[in-house]
Amino acid sequence: MTKAEDSVRQATAQAHPNIALIKYWGKRDVALNLPVVGSLSITLDRLHSCTTVRFLPELAADRVWLNGHEDLASARRIGRFLDRLRERAGVRCGAWVESGNNFPTAAGLASSASGFAALALAGSAALGLTLDATELSLLARQGSGSAARSIFGGFVEWSHGERADGLDSVAHPIRPAQYWPLRVVVAVTSTASKAIGSSEGMQRTALTSPYQSAWVDTQEADLARARAAIEARDFEALAAVSEHSCLKMHALAMAAQPGLLYWNGATLDAMHAVRQLRAQGVPVFFTVDAGPQVKAICLPDAANAVAEAMRSLSGVLDVIECGLGEGACLIEAEAAGA
Ligand code: DP6
Repeated sequence: MTKAEDSVRQATAQAHPNIALIKYWGKRDVALNLPVVGSLSITLDRLHSCTTVRFLPELAADRVWLNGHEDLASARRIGRFLDRLRERAGVRCGAWVESGNNFPTAAGLASSASGFAALALAGSAALGLTLDATELSLLARQGSGSAARSIFGGFVEWSHGERADGLDSVAHPIRPAQYWPLRVVVAVTSTASKAIGSSEGMQRTALTSPYQSAWVDTQEADLARARAAIEARDFEALAAVSEHSCLKMHALAMAAQPGLLYWNGATLDAMHAVRQLRAQGVPVFFTVDAGPQVKAICLPDAANAVAEAMRSLSGVLDVIECGLGEGACLIEAEAAGA
């Protein structure tokens, strides 16, 4: 056992999913998950990933359990992620990782964001590394880009950065959750896992969509509009720029070859229903990620009406409601065997 392995501990951390209002789509470096554009998100409350990491000297290979089942495919991706931590801590032994979500994995709620944020925190704490939130964001980003944002709560921005090593591509909080307590109503329209994952979709888009440069060129203006809308708590302005970013990301991806079509019929019905509500004066807007679920974001007083409207659509299978939450947190850290 090396000296570093002497101090090996185990740790458990929790992190919430986040929803991008100004979308991340496209990487300038695939291996490091460096984005071509900045993005801006809200971190949710109530829903979380909870992850325990134990580094065990007797374990030669990593073992990963997701929602109670051993997951060999994830073990490789998680193993590569943990290698960075092992290298930093000078530890070689395998890890036993148990992670669970208190929300359906197929709900299109970016379980990779909350999962890698919780893993970054639990894994580093288990190795006795004390990383600040910025270092954790940088680390989480390397597992899944959007995980960089789940380290923080409330309204969060992730910079694309300029550096080739990615040291300047981290997230930072803009405003806390309490500043503007928006509600998020998720309309689940399918429980099938998505055909084309985000990473693959982004690559195809960058290589084949004729709109890629327009996407990159217009992102800064969207970010500025969103920042100003949040600062002023101007719901109408945030609705306009968020729907614009969502539709622009999908238009960009639809124009790839072959085109990426993440929506189903119920996705469109829910988007129309949100716009109808807004036309009637209900403060609500939609956003949709790389899947068919619709996230309706509204002011607190409108949440019941929005949830009711989503539930009344025949293609909506489930409705999940939440508010804005805090960043990733450590639940416990202790010496192994203690
Ligand atoms: C559409 O963070 O899942 O949700 O970095 O390849 O793991 P990787 O991608 P991921 O992509 C999220 C894309 C999105 C938009 C967003 O969350 O900003």
